[in-house]
Amino acid sequence: MSNFDIIKSRDESYVAHTYGRFPAAIVRGHNATCYDADGKKYIDFTSGIGVNSLGFCDKGWTDAVTKQLGLLQHISNLYYTEPCGKLAELLCERTGMKKVFFANGGAEANEGAIKCARKYSFMKYGGGRSKILTLKNSFHGRTVTTLSATGQDVFHNFFFPFTEGFDFITPGDIAELRSKSEGVCALMIELIQGEGGVLPVDREYVKSAAEFCAENDILLIVDEVQTGIGRTGSLFCFEQYGIRPDIVTAAKGIGGGLPLAAVLFGEKTENVLVAGDHATTFGGNPIACAGGVEIINRLDAEFLAEVRKKGDYFREKISKMPNVAGIAGMGLMIGIELSGGIAAADVVRAGLEAGVLLLTAKSKVRLLPPLTVTYEEIDEGLAALEKALSR
Ligand SMILES: Cc1ncc(COP(=O)(O)O)c(C=O)c1O
Repeated sequence: MSNFDIIKSRDESYVAHTYGRFPAAIVRGHNATCYDADGKKYIDFTSGIGVNSLGFCDKGWTDAVTKQLGLLQHISNLYYTEPCGKLAELLCERTGMKKVFFANGGAEANEGAIKCARKYSFMKYGGGRSKILTLKNSFHGRTVTTLSATGQDVFHNFFFPFTEGFDFITPGDIAELRSKSEGVCALMIELIQGEGGVLPVDREYVKSAAEFCAENDILLIVDEVQTGIGRTGSLFCFEQYGIRPDIVTAAKGIGGGLPLAAVLFGEKTENVLVAGDHATTFGGNPIACAGGVEIINRLDAEFLAEVRKKGDYFREKISKMPNVAGIAGMGLMIGIELSGGIAAADVVRAGLEAGVLLLTAKSKVRLLPPLTVTYEEIDEGLAALEKALSR
């Protein structure tokens, strides 16, 4: 039996079968290079689905995390800790947002945003103005409420009754937003639909929607769980859209591999949730936040310019590969549209054999490499991708 077979067999016996896994067990890595249990090398173009912002075992991040680990791992939100405040300060200074609530994952961050929007409206206008509009084809998480918020019918199954008060509008159709705005407290959007197929939402539409929301005191929530923390070449994607959201949610890349998420509140929303309204045991955990501080400090203007440059490099090389019909996304969030009836999952499987870790997003192959991926790693991973695409 190979090491992989032993790991797989135990997993199959004892871990709930909620994930379709690829046939590899990754045991160690550095930056965008990793190795499986039997010693095979891979270039990682997934960063754990947009999580490992600084790659595997980055020295600065590992030092920040282990230093905090040796001081205090947890104390509860009944007490102050330094890393939590430091990370909140950095996020506010860099974005112009005013306050931060820390959570553990994307769905939980979106739950916080939804609660805040509903309370804002209830306190100001009373009941009956609690509806939240989201975009068709969106993805906002797997809790019962964030499944309700997700604009894809395929997710609205089995777990009835779902949370009420969500309706869906077509991205790009401003008239539909206007016509469905009765009783609405918030519009929640992804700027690039990640799970939906790496589909950027039209910039002019987003600007008009933001204006309409501001005029009507409808809160604008931007779900940056996948697009945030440097992924698209700016700290948050909303900066490139020229809008000022009332609430921004972040997760994935903010923890660099530890469970951490954030809800950023703007001027209208900073004081809506008060003691007793919302809480989570692990939120703002000092170890995760110490790592987060290192990540945000590293993502300065020069680093982000490099993310954009690497994104352009990827695009230029991929556009010349066989069976590529188009490339979507921004920065290091890349969706490859395939031609010739090729299935994205088959390319990912072939990529694994050729030595590169890839993702799918609907019918596209999706790349979310660590932001620190080197040009040598890019070239090596792209050579394997080209092999996979040529099959
Ligand atoms: C845009 C968006 N929102 C929310 C989520 C849910 O995040 P989590 O899996 O951390 O709950 C995801 C996950 O892919 C996402 O892409």
